[in-house]
Amino acid sequence: MRTTASFLRLLVFFIAALIIIEWVYPGDEWAMLTQPILWAIVSGLMLFAIAFEICVAALESILFRTLTPEQQESYNSKRALKEENRFKWFRDTYKKALGSKAIEEEHDIILDHNYDGIKELDNDLPPWWVWGFYATILFAVVYLVRFEVLNDYNQDEEYEIAVAEAAIEIAEWKKTAKDLVDVNTVVLLTEASDLKAGQTIFNTNCVACHKADGGGGIGPNLTDRNWILGGGIKNVFNTISEGGRDGKGMISWKSELKPSEMAQVASYVLSFQGTTPAEPKEAEGDIWVDPEAPEDTKIDTKIDTETKEIKTEETIEIIQDSTAMNVILSN
Ligand code: HEC
Repeated sequence: MRTTASFLRLLVFFIAALIIIEWVYPGDEWAMLTQPILWAIVSGLMLFAIAFEICVAALESILFRTLTPEQQESYNSKRALKEENRFKWFRDTYKKALGSKAIEEEHDIILDHNYDGIKELDNDLPPWWVWGFYATILFAVVYLVRFEVLNDYNQDEEYEIAVAEAAIEIAEWKKTAKDLVDVNTVVLLTEASDLKAGQTIFNTNCVACHKADGGGGIGPNLTDRNWILGGGIKNVFNTISEGGRDGKGMISWKSELKPSEMAQVASYVLSFQGTTPAEPKEAEGDIWVDPEAPEDTKIDTKIDTETKEIKTEETIEIIQDSTAMNVILSN
């Protein structure tokens, strides 16, 4: 019994250690699985606990030997009593929960029929069963009122909520998974580290045709507002990923560069906007206006499609001025 108690204490100690560790390192995965070092720590602690148990037992036996025989006697009998009462509460409760009668009292509940010598006892239903049954009734009432009377929520709503929660989780996860960017999700990167990485990629792969300052050579000028294949992070990303028009020389880079790298170099390319290269190649393509830009900058597009003119900054300004005048006049 001694050893059983020690063993139980050690077991409780071990389980408590596991619970505390999982509580300290919350997460989707078990910390004990992801960080094997924790096993070493727990093993160390367990060794201490075992040593402690051994010390206590040894101390007890030494003290026991210092007692006089009478004292030893009384100690033993007290101990035996304690042992007997141990777990008494559990044993009693368990018996009560079964609700069965002791074998000596069975004559009270025996039914008077007899099938080939087999008799039947009229036992009460076990209390655990009865209380379980009451609990289901209570549950049914609460359920009925909550969902059928008060219409708390239905399965469709539950589904919608679960989907919304999952969408949030996916968004969180995507933030950590940088290489999942594609043309639909790419955004302009502004972190200095990303632009620096983009510059390195550009200088390694792109300068031959676009020049280090983006002024253009075999490839078009990347510093002006004119784009052949469309400006803005999404179009530029797409051009880099899929390549330019057939036969023009701009290949698809998606097999050489990772998506995150294409996003970095695309952001770096866009940082050329408005700079003045040493030998700028003449503009090719149309001035690109972001369709998602706020209204007041969008005026450019409207003018472009109406006038079908070459849109220099000057003409835009003139037209903007005249619309402003119109507004003033009509007031
Ligand atoms: C072999 C020469 C060459 C290399 C190397 C090259 N490009 Fe190009 N690039 C071109 C050409 C030519 C075009 C025009 C494509 C067209 O007209 O369809 C172009 C177009 C572009 C455009 C679109 C410009 C516009 O006006 O729409 C971008 C952006 C671009 N390149 C970025 C890059 C990046 C980034 C790299 C390096 C990863 C790169 N290019 C490497 C030749 C090159």
